[in-house]
Amino acid sequence: MASQEILPGVHLLEWEGKKRLATLTSDPQPVYGERIAECLRFWDPFRSKLAALLLKCNSCASSLTANTKMLYLGAATGTTVSHVSDIVRESLVYAVEFSPRSMRDLLRLCERRDNIVPILADAARPEIYSSMLEPVDLVYQDVAQPNQAQIASLNCARYLKPGGSLILMIKTRSIDVTSTPETVFSAEIKKLQGLEVLQSFELLPFHQDHWAILARKI
Ligand SMILES: C[S@@+](CC[C@H](N)C(=O)[O-])C[C@H]1O[C@@H](n2cnc3c(N)ncnc32)[C@H](O)[C@@H]1O
Repeated sequence: MASQEILPGVHLLEWEGKKRLATLTSDPQPVYGERIAECLRFWDPFRSKLAALLLKCNSCASSLTANTKMLYLGAATGTTVSHVSDIVRESLVYAVEFSPRSMRDLLRLCERRDNIVPILADAARPEIYSSMLEPVDLVYQDVAQPNQAQIASLNCARYLKPGGSLILMIKTRSIDVTSTPETVFSAEIKKLQGLEVLQSFELLPFHQDHWAILARKI
């Protein structure tokens, strides 16, 4: 399979006439029914907003490397976390999720991988997990809550190293369904504190009413 490495461990390849992403993995077992071929695990942009972002902007998320320490807020059952775990293979991903049901599936994934630290907690109360975390290089958030910017700001203030990166997935319909998505998105960006917004991307055609914000801690 001909492929181009767009980030360490992240490959862009052509498969059945379409551009696909895949992460290099040592785990032979699929996590969400994805195809695995030649140690490359296909990464579905309709299931993962991070994959959608990387397909829209190959050079985004350059802060993701084998040694990146990452705080992941809104881990769910581990679809995207599993690909992040492939990428940060020499480091750790702290995966915060507040649904016990999702956490049960995430724990099954953690049994096969030793670089995911599962944390059952509310990301809106970051002080709760202070004893489990050290400063991180990258905060990734995908929580679909009305106070998404506030949750990101609190976690970055506490755990992100100065100069570190934030990738924030904003779901505008979780914030306000009465205003246009563009209005909600612009208002949410202004609520980010202690962070410089560098770029933003709408995640169409993969995710409707979703934006990715890339920011840096000041
Ligand atoms: C859209 S899903 C995340 C999907 C996941 N990021 C992926 O790509 O595989 C949002 C998740 O955030 C979790 N969540 C929402 N609010 C949260 C909070 N305050 N603290 C922790 N988890 C939260 C939800 O339970 C849900 O599992």
